[in-house]
Amino acid sequence: MIPSLRVLAVGLLLTVALGQTSQFQESVFLQFLGLDKVPSPQTVQPVPSILKKIFQDREAAATTGDSHGLCYIKDLGIQGNILRLLLDQGRFLYPKKPSQASSCLQKLLYFNLSSITDKEELTMAQLGLDLGPTTYYKLGPELELALSLVEEPHVGDWPVPLPGKMLVLQSVPWPQGVVHFNLLRVAKGWRNNPWKNLGLLLEILVKGNRDVGVNFQLQDTCARLRRSLRASLLVVTLHPEQCHPSSRKRREAVPAPQAFCRNLCHRHQLFINFRDLGWHKWIIAPKGFMANYCHGECPFSLTTSLNSSNYAFMQALMRAVDPEVPQAACIPTKLSPISMLYQDNDDNVILRHYEDMVVDECGCG
Ligand SMILES: *[C@@H]1O[C@H](CO)[C@@H](O)[C@H](O)[C@H]1NC(C)=O
Ligand SMILES: *[C@@H]1O[C@H](CO)[C@@H](O)[C@H](O)[C@H]1NC(C)=O
Repeated sequence: MIPSLRVLAVGLLLTVALGQTSQFQESVFLQFLGLDKVPSPQTVQPVPSILKKIFQDREAAATTGDSHGLCYIKDLGIQGNILRLLLDQGRFLYPKKPSQASSCLQKLLYFNLSSITDKEELTMAQLGLDLGPTTYYKLGPELELALSLVEEPHVGDWPVPLPGKMLVLQSVPWPQGVVHFNLLRVAKGWRNNPWKNLGLLLEILVKGNRDVGVNFQLQDTCARLRRSLRASLLVVTLHPEQCHPSSRKRREAVPAPQAFCRNLCHRHQLFINFRDLGWHKWIIAPKGFMANYCHGECPFSLTTSLNSSNYAFMQALMRAVDPEVPQAACIPTKLSPISMLYQDNDDNVILRHYEDMVVDECGCG
C-alpha cells in the first residue's frame, strides 16, 4: 500500500525543514495543503474575527488534547474543516437610468468558488455585507437591501445585468456594521454548475420621503456607502477524507519506551518555523509548529520485550530467520492536528485544519 498523502506530506515537510529543500517536495506539500503553487498575496487582508476566534479555540483544544471535534465547528454549529473567506470580485454598476428614484447604489457581487475541490462538501455559505462604521449623523436614513441572482449573461456595451430571482429584500434601519445572509443553496447551485455563477446583483435603496433637505444627506450617505461597502462570502466545507477520526491512529505499533537508550526509537523534537521556509508571507498563523519526528532503532529485543501480538513482532521474528526482512521501522503511533490560517493567491483568507501534523508518540511498527 502506498503511504497516505498525509504521511508523505509530514515526511516531506521534515526533509524541507531539515534543509533538503527541493521544488518537487514543496509542490507535493502544497498539494497536500490544497494549493497548486506558493501563494503570494497581493495585499495583507485583515483576519475576520470569526476565523480568529475559531483558530484560537482550535489552538486551545490542541494543547489540551481535546481535538475530537476536529471536523465540527462549534462556533458555527456545523460540520466542516476548511473555512474560506472569499472576497467579492465584482464591481459597482452605474446604470444610465436608475431603476428607481430611491436607488442609492448597485453592485455586481462575484465570488469565485473554483478553489473548492470536488471532494469537499459545502456546509455553509454566508454572505457578509459590511455597510461601514457609524456615521457622523449617528443614524443614517433607513436603507433597503435588494439582493438578486444574476441568471442571464448580459451583453452589450453597457453591462448592467438583469436581476433574476430575488434572494433578499430587507430593511436595515440603522445602516452600520455587517449584515449576514445565508446563501448555502445558491452556492451549492454554483458548485454544481459553475457556468451559472454569474454573480449577484445588490441594490441599496433609500427608504422614506426624499424631500430637498434630506436629499443632500442622502447623496452623502450613498457616497459613504460606496466607499465603505465590502462584501465577502464565508464558505465552510467538509473534506471527509481529511477528517475521519480513525485516521488518528493509523497503524498498530509497539509503543517505544521513553528514550532510556539514545539510539532506540523515540520522538525527537523539531520545530518547523514557517519563516525559514519563506512561508511566513502567506501563512498568517501559526508562526510555525512543533512537528517532531520519530527516529531510532527497533531491534528485536525491543520489539519482543513489549506486547508481541502485532505485526512488528511478526516482522522481527521473520527477520531473525531471514535477514532480508527489513527491521521494524520507527514510526509515529500518535499524531495530532494543527490549524493553519493563510491567504491564497486571490487574497482570500482560509482557515484549515490538518490532521496528523504533530508527532506525539513513536513506536516500532
Ligand atoms: C476563478 O479562479 C480561477 C483560479 O484562480 C481562475 O482560473 C478563473 O478564471 C476564475 N474565474 C473567474 C470567472 O474569474
Ligand atoms: C500489553 O497488552 C496488555 C493488554 O492488551 C496491556 O494491558 C499492557 O499495558 C500492554 N503492555 C505494553 C508494554 O504495552
